[in-house]
Amino acid sequence: MKKKDIVLSGIRPTGNLHLGNYYGAIRNFLSMQEDYNCFFFIADVHSLTTHPKPENLHARVKQVLAEYLACGIDPEKATIYIQSDVPEVLEMAIYLNMNAYLGELERTTTFKDKARKQPNNVNAGLLTYPVLMASDIIIHKAKYVPVGKDQEQNLEMARKYARRFNNIYGVDEFVEPQDFTFDGGEPLKVPGLDGSGKMGKSEGNAINLFDEPKEIRKKVMHAVTDSGPSKMNSEMPETVKNLFSLMKLVSDPEVIKQFEESYAKCEIRYGDLKKQLAEDIIDVTKPIRARINEYLADDNYLGRVTKIGAEKGRESASKTLDEVKKIIGFKRFY
Ligand code: ADP
Ligand code: TRP
Repeated sequence: MKKKDIVLSGIRPTGNLHLGNYYGAIRNFLSMQEDYNCFFFIADVHSLTTHPKPENLHARVKQVLAEYLACGIDPEKATIYIQSDVPEVLEMAIYLNMNAYLGELERTTTFKDKARKQPNNVNAGLLTYPVLMASDIIIHKAKYVPVGKDQEQNLEMARKYARRFNNIYGVDEFVEPQDFTFDGGEPLKVPGLDGSGKMGKSEGNAINLFDEPKEIRKKVMHAVTDSGPSKMNSEMPETVKNLFSLMKLVSDPEVIKQFEESYAKCEIRYGDLKKQLAEDIIDVTKPIRARINEYLADDNYLGRVTKIGAEKGRESASKTLDEVKKIIGFKRFY
């Protein structure tokens, strides 16, 4: 039965969720919570690689939690927890660390990227990030992991560590997790507004679910384009393609078709295109923003959700951890 298959995903509390997170990850969470046994968590331990200030950490976790709920993740259907509330994950990560090799960790693209971006803070947590992520996933024996395209390599590492543990100990303890999109398509990559490939929290090119309409209009109107097509049916530059990719997420297909036709005929006015895009984004985000505010004002409810989530998360994680400790050969004298 499908219901028994386990789904897990996490997001780091490093900033407000943006359209990339929503369309790349959360929208998949929403459909999966209907049919699968889902765990969705907030990766606060992972976020420590960038040394958040203690006075900011809790507010960031709270924001992502409110955003998860506002998007429609339902604590009645899915288990929602905060990573540091389930310490079994951290213990498991230490065991997996013993089977992770320096060379393969150093070759990970995300490690190389981050090391380049923060050369003065290339900490061991950054290096072993994929090990902790593998632990997050395999401790619940998750089969499917809905994430965006940028996480493919980390997921490959999780499969590697699951397989390696099984091979070393000659067991079939762990399931190899796979990526997943509810429509069966490829994981999505939502582009940024600056012509770059990916919308990201730290790239300064994101539209957040929590942005006010005014802010969204301003960001979209400032999106990079070019001077417009000069030949009929010419190829679109990357920047304009990106605007159309965003439109495909939020706009009516008929409207998109009209803009595509006017581009082909060199009649397009980017100002109109951007106005339309901004309003269509606002239609999606406005109700979400209102709900985020409601959840932010309800600490009691957030407390209940995370307490139940922590209990369910720990129950599942400790079951695997007990098995793992037995397999490793730990025995007590007492
Ligand atoms: P960011 O890259 O902005 O820091 P995270 O790394 O916390 O965001 O990503 C959380 C989830 O959102 C992951 O599953 C990731 O794959 C997905 N995601 C982030 N940005 C995008 C994007 N531009 N397109 C598609 N998915 C994305
Ligand atoms: N690495 C993911 C990201 O940056 C967040 C994450 C941590 C995660 N642990 C996970 C995602 C486990 C899926 C499963 O977006």
